[in-house]
Amino acid sequence: MLRLRYDTPPAWAATVMEHLDAFLQDHASNERKVSHSAMTLAAQHPDREDLVEAMISIAKEELEHFEQVFRLLQSRGVPLAHDAPDPYMGRLFKSVKTPDADAYLLDRLLLFGIVEARGCERFSLVGEALDDAALSAFYRELAASEARHHATYLTLARRYFARDRTDARLDTLLDLEAEVAAAMPIAPRLH
Ligand SMILES: [Fe+2]
Ligand SMILES: [Fe+2]
Repeated sequence: MLRLRYDTPPAWAATVMEHLDAFLQDHASNERKVSHSAMTLAAQHPDREDLVEAMISIAKEELEHFEQVFRLLQSRGVPLAHDAPDPYMGRLFKSVKTPDADAYLLDRLLLFGIVEARGCERFSLVGEALDDAALSAFYRELAASEARHHATYLTLARRYFARDRTDARLDTLLDLEAEVAAAMPIAPRLH
C-alpha cells in the first residue's frame, strides 16, 4: 500500500461522527462517481484489454458500494443528495497532463490510484470511530476494497509505462495530493 504524505487528522473522523448522515450522502455520491469514471476510462481505451477488464471489475464494485450506501441511507430515512462540488478532485485533476494521450493516461491511473488510497485511509478511520459494530465492519470492508482498487491502478500504470517515468510522476502527484488534502476544510465529506 502506497504511503500517503498527509495523515487525515482525528478531527475529521470526529466531524464525520457528528454529521454521519451528511457524510453518508457525500460518500454515496463518491461511489457513484468513481464507478462512472472507471467506465469512462474503459471507453477511452478500447484497445487495452486488460485495462477494460480491470475497469469493469472496479466499476461494478463501486456501483455495489453506491447501492450499499444508498440502502443504508434508506434505512436511516435519509435521501440521496445532489452532488456538491468537489474541490479536492477538482484541484487534483486540474494538474493532469494532457499534452499527449499517454501522459494523460499515466496521470489518471496514478491519480485514481492515489484517490483510492485516500478512500482506504478515510474509510479505515470511519471504521475505527464508529460504535455501531455492523456499520464499522462495513467501513472496514470498504477500506479493504479500495486498497485493492488502489493496487489495480498502480499495477496498470506500471504495466504501461516505464518504471522511472511512473515513479517520478507518482512522487510529484503524491506531493500534490498531500498539499491539496491538507488545504481542505474539515467537513463531513469523504474529501
Ligand atoms: Fe468504493
Ligand atoms: Fe474504489
